[in-house]
Amino acid sequence: MPDITHAREPRLLALDQLLSRRSVGLLQEPAPAGADLDLILDAGLRAPDHGRLKPWRFVVIRGEARLAYAEKLAEAAMVRDPANAATLAERYRAWVRRTPMLIAVGAVVKPGNIPEIEQLLAAGSAAMNMLNALHMLGYGGMWVTGPNVYDSNVNRLLGFEAPSRLVGHLAVGTPAPSTAPVPARPDRAAHVSEWTP
Ligand SMILES: Cc1cc2nc3c(=O)[nH]c(=O)nc-3n(C[C@H](O)[C@H](O)[C@H](O)COP(=O)(O)O)c2cc1C
Repeated sequence: MPDITHAREPRLLALDQLLSRRSVGLLQEPAPAGADLDLILDAGLRAPDHGRLKPWRFVVIRGEARLAYAEKLAEAAMVRDPANAATLAERYRAWVRRTPMLIAVGAVVKPGNIPEIEQLLAAGSAAMNMLNALHMLGYGGMWVTGPNVYDSNVNRLLGFEAPSRLVGHLAVGTPAPSTAPVPARPDRAAHVSEWTP
């Protein structure tokens, strides 16, 4: 066992925090800024990364830029799905209006020995680290994909040209008061087995 006896209690408290994380769809102001946002982004940059490629790219979308971003999502929907573009445009406008901040998370995928999936997993791990950091600082977040994340126009707008790509948006803010029950968590036994020869 690692020698952490002297500092076990604070570590257990931190782990308790991790175990109580949940995704928060119902968000309100404020979004993290300044030193809090730096800590959250730094947590993203502590994700594992095969080959030290540092594929992580985070695009912060906040303030008035959110509304302009929603218009870009609406334009992309017009190209992708013209029959439903008006409905989608309203959906995206409403989404950004009620979301204090978005962090678009992507991977700059480099050709070479490290498989693409590992570079994408590194970006996904960064997203997870940021969700954990948000929660530990008292903020809330939710990982959202949907068709925008797979749309090459949206990817290009945020600086991702194939094979580089987005892996998701983090919707970020402060948890709004909610009566939603704490979600049931998976039964460990259903997900864990021990391999024996
Ligand atoms: C890669 C990825 C993409 C997701 N995309 C969406 C999405 O587009 N819309 C949505 O409602 N939930 C999406 N989710 C699920 C939520 O982020 C969240 O994990 C889920 O609601 C379970 O909540 P929990 O994190 O508290 O267990 C996605 C999750 C992952 C990992």
